[in-house]
Amino acid sequence: QYIAEISELNQLEIHLKEILRVENVIIVPGNSDEEDWVKQEMGKACVRYLKKIIMPNATIAVTGGTTMASIASVMSPLDKVDNYLFVPARGGIGEKVENQANTIAAEMSLKAQGNYRLLYVPDPLSETSYQNLINEPSIIEVLQLIKNADIVLHGIGDALTMAERRKTPENIKQKLLEEKAVSEAFGYYFTQKGEVVHKVRTVGLQLEDLDSKEYVITVAGGSSKAKAIESYFKQAKSHMLITDEAAAIQILRDS
Ligand code: BG6
Repeated sequence: QYIAEISELNQLEIHLKEILRVENVIIVPGNSDEEDWVKQEMGKACVRYLKKIIMPNATIAVTGGTTMASIASVMSPLDKVDNYLFVPARGGIGEKVENQANTIAAEMSLKAQGNYRLLYVPDPLSETSYQNLINEPSIIEVLQLIKNADIVLHGIGDALTMAERRKTPENIKQKLLEEKAVSEAFGYYFTQKGEVVHKVRTVGLQLEDLDSKEYVITVAGGSSKAKAIESYFKQAKSHMLITDEAAAIQILRDS
């Protein structure tokens, strides 16, 4: 029931821009909760956008997740410029290998004919390991590249789904429940109002680093993520939301 006409999608995009206060929105037909090809359509829209904005010598930082993995699966050479670098946005997050940022950055770069640098750091990190790691020369070098990334591609997750997927300790899950966490992105958990209630300690991009980025591209869809998308955009620094029809309709209903 989710396949709207193009003109209807254009209308939805206009509404969504207003509701979420984001400069750009692309909506693809369908519901990615139900069908995998919808994630790939979001992926294709993302690759098209990337081709438009890519600049020579750009560094692109990417997070993990199945949505980012779908973008990697449809990546193709980013024409016109000949030198760009893919890096993971943050340390690994104890997810399956195919959903980790390192794997995704490597696959994107191979398909885009770019270069990549990876970050081998567990997530979460203890305070002591964190202090030691951020002083390791090889880590410092990659972290510098990540911090200076020009373009950030990231997903948003439902808070409790992500806590479950990351095998989060029971006491933290309890905290997320009590504080009513709704969304997760970059290892930060947000309430409905966009307040941070928990953060996974790891190295790489922190929320405040997004302020200086030229392009932050958010990709998340499926009606199950409507609340998470609304929550993230309460505080977000994002120039572009790529989503699907089902999420867009649900966000409109909630507003
Ligand atoms: C994770 C990212 O790997 O993927 C998270 O680190 C994000 O920040 C999540 O919320 C989204 O996953 P998916 O599978 O719903 O795209």
